[in-house]
Amino acid sequence: MKTTIATLKKMKEEGNKITMLTCYDYSTAKLMDNAGVEVLLIGDSLGNTMLGYADTLPVTMEDMIHHTAAVSRGAKNALVIADMPFMSYQPSVYDAVVNAGRLIKEGHASVVKLEGGAKVCDRIEAIVRADIPVCAHIGLTPQSINAFGGFKVQGKSEEAARQLIEDAKKVEAAGASMVVLEGIPAKLASIITKSVTIPTIGIGAGADCDGQVLVYQDMLGMFDDYVPKFVKHFANVGEVMTKAFEDYKKEVKEGTFPAAEHTYKIADEVIEKLY
Ligand code: KIV
Repeated sequence: MKTTIATLKKMKEEGNKITMLTCYDYSTAKLMDNAGVEVLLIGDSLGNTMLGYADTLPVTMEDMIHHTAAVSRGAKNALVIADMPFMSYQPSVYDAVVNAGRLIKEGHASVVKLEGGAKVCDRIEAIVRADIPVCAHIGLTPQSINAFGGFKVQGKSEEAARQLIEDAKKVEAAGASMVVLEGIPAKLASIITKSVTIPTIGIGAGADCDGQVLVYQDMLGMFDDYVPKFVKHFANVGEVMTKAFEDYKKEVKEGTFPAAEHTYKIADEVIEKLY
């Protein structure tokens, strides 16, 4: 059954936790979809994990469309959400609607995600008016890294915590269908989750959110440029891959790969005619 925005709303109402993972390519999308993960997010974190940038700021619309289209081809049941990259919605409401539309038309996403609370509500309203569902994203929003002065947990003072509660209510009022809460104290995320009717999806925001999201290379132990406190390694795929690469190299050097079973045959009389 295809997951929709309505499915996620119902899951919140029933207390059924939502699972979301980042995804950037077709074969990984198929694996996640088969595993029953409900939401695949083409995060602009692909700037770090797939493209090797130090942050998400250089990611372009073309990068996002390219990866979103690949994931959409592999996601049969999962809901596909595409991130709006830095400067695709900040300059104007017009840019926001046009670029959200491209992620739907060219990337075949069902939902777009953009960072910011009250200050992006006019963008959210306009995109929703164009019949494109929106996932908001508040707290430690990586596109604001220069304004924050680094990756710092948000909402720790009373004023900042109140601001985040207001942001969540405002993005809901603007028409957002869900909201990612990133890098905020667990107790604050719990209050926000109870303050809105749309699902909250946490990353570094504790267990009381309506769902969780992780960057897939983080949860598989494939990415060690930096490992935030909230990451759990559900497998050590990085070690498994490295061992496989080493074994491949060894067997090629020794001449044990490819073996007879990996090799195509030809009739001896054909070969004899070649001499
Ligand atoms: O870009 C991303 O992967 C994200 C998640 C961390 C929520 O926005």
